[in-house]
Amino acid sequence: MMRTHYCGQLNETLADQEITLCGWVHRRRDHGGVIFLDIRDREGLAQVVFDPDREETFAKADRVRSEYVVKVTGKVRLRPEGARNPNMASGAIEVLGYQLEVLNQAETPPFPLDEYSDVGEETRLRYRFIDLRRPEMAAKLKLRSRITSSVRRYLDDNGFLDVETPILTRATPEGARDYLVPSRTHAGSFFALPQSPQLFKQLLMVSGFDRYYQIAKCFRDEDLRADRQPEFTQIDIETSFLDEQDIIGLTEGMIRKLFKEVLDVELGDFPHMPFSEAMRRYGSDKPDLRIPLELVDVEDQLKDVDFKVFAGPANDPKCRVAALRVPGGASMPRKQIDDYTKYVGIYGAKGLAYIKVNERAAGVEGLQSPIVKNIPLDNINVILDRVGAVDGDIVFFGADKAKIVSEALGALRIKLGHDLNLLTCEWAPMWVVDFPMFEENDDGSLSALHHPFTAPQCSPEELKANPATALSRAYDMVLNGTELGGGSIRIHRKDMQQAVFDILGISPEEQQEKFGFLLDALKYGAPPHGGLAFGLDRLVMLMTGASSIREVIAFPKTQSAACVMTQAPGLVDNKALRELHIRLREQPKAE
Ligand code: AMO
Ligand code: AMP
Repeated sequence: MMRTHYCGQLNETLADQEITLCGWVHRRRDHGGVIFLDIRDREGLAQVVFDPDREETFAKADRVRSEYVVKVTGKVRLRPEGARNPNMASGAIEVLGYQLEVLNQAETPPFPLDEYSDVGEETRLRYRFIDLRRPEMAAKLKLRSRITSSVRRYLDDNGFLDVETPILTRATPEGARDYLVPSRTHAGSFFALPQSPQLFKQLLMVSGFDRYYQIAKCFRDEDLRADRQPEFTQIDIETSFLDEQDIIGLTEGMIRKLFKEVLDVELGDFPHMPFSEAMRRYGSDKPDLRIPLELVDVEDQLKDVDFKVFAGPANDPKCRVAALRVPGGASMPRKQIDDYTKYVGIYGAKGLAYIKVNERAAGVEGLQSPIVKNIPLDNINVILDRVGAVDGDIVFFGADKAKIVSEALGALRIKLGHDLNLLTCEWAPMWVVDFPMFEENDDGSLSALHHPFTAPQCSPEELKANPATALSRAYDMVLNGTELGGGSIRIHRKDMQQAVFDILGISPEEQQEKFGFLLDALKYGAPPHGGLAFGLDRLVMLMTGASSIREVIAFPKTQSAACVMTQAPGLVDNKALRELHIRLREQPKAE
């Protein structure tokens, strides 16, 4: 081994010892006669001093440049009182350099590492191997590694077996598009990369493995956002003979222990909230409970008003009219209200009515609003009482299709929470339960809200009779408004699975073709089972406070699902295409 210590591990206890460091030249300073090199490795920085007494070494130190890879041997010594650097782990000491070996030179890096530089993400991703040298990036990947090791330890201690499942497989429906891989040996046929190990982990339960986990790569070709990647990692879990409360208890225990071990945070209560309540009070199936604002339904007060914008939706069962009170918001300037009106427009809202409550005792005169003239004061007072409005508040309104109102006011709630600094705590975990089995598409057909293997809370007969209102045995863990993980008790009887496929409009032939192996497995002794999968990248993102999922993945894809470093996806030559039985419809243009 070349090194005796990592730079960041040097401290006073090593004073007077001779040590050897290996790392990169972070910074080089020439201080009239002495040369300081800050050497960096994954654990941090150490300051090495070279004085002219050792002529040859000094001359070498004079020639090194930023990002050279060096090996330094020297003696640790305490820094003089005034020269200590509290921002550096090894800031109380320095190393007097005896020997310096340049292991490799480096060209001037495309962006400096020794100072903050506002370099674009494209450049950072193009030179990711350099970007990852930055201490804040290394810190995130190190935390990620501690997270997976804590999770593995917990699951190992609880009797879970780590089993790998295939990457070249058939479509596993989780609601996104598949990444396809052409088969050379089966002309015209394609593998799909798994959207999750869902079906394989269920089959492992049928095989009797009882408790499975895997830190599994998943692939989904969907529109990317700050918290989504086409290739991401799940902490994937499945169990047999446990009900939803058992699984919730086990996985909640895992997250609690993880936060305690890695961040020294005691997570408080995980309240359980039915999906319908989450939508009603927060306009979201993943409420951020750090924000104390709530949506309140008010359609009953607006059915007969002479204001179509409200009366129309108030009388339509597919619509919703809701109010959102913001304490102290009456001082909000017009410009800010206009900006919020634009913001809810992103979610399809056609406007953002409001009432500023200046002085409730003064009746209509005390209210400032574009809509109060249209609504009888009695109704306004009922609404203001219901939302708990007091002088100085503003109340926003949304009226439209239920989905639009929930999404728009739900998003506004979060934005207001951040803009006005209303967050009441740092961590707000919860479980959302009692999801509907299905959601209705625009054409009236039904899709599985979770996935088609989730068990309903009722019998197959009841499910067929009332699919649209049936609830499932699914549960999501939500943290600070992010869906961290989701799972369910699965269907373990063939007739129930067929009933769900029927409701989804999958013909018996197609059921056999696509899921024949699952239906077979359910015939041959499938135990009751269920599980859950956490999004590891999202978990790390929350625990590191990163602003994007890309910050916690070593080599992420861009928003357009490409890798700018390796230039993937790339063109393939005609010979390879021929072997794969593929002819392109258009010749690709050279980029
Ligand atoms: P689901 O589709 O809810 O469930 O995924 C589980 C968790 O994975 C994370 N996640 C993602 N993270 C980053 N980028 C993405 N594109 C992405 N998509 C999902 C989320 C999510 O909560 N097989 C089921 C689990 C089960 O039923 O056991 C499944 O995949 O944090
Ligand atoms: P209008 O009568 O269109 O000028 O709208 C009066 C007020 O109602 C304005 O403050 C609009 O922003 C608001 N508004 C219009 N449509 C809606 C809607 N669908 N939901 C909530 N507020 C609305």
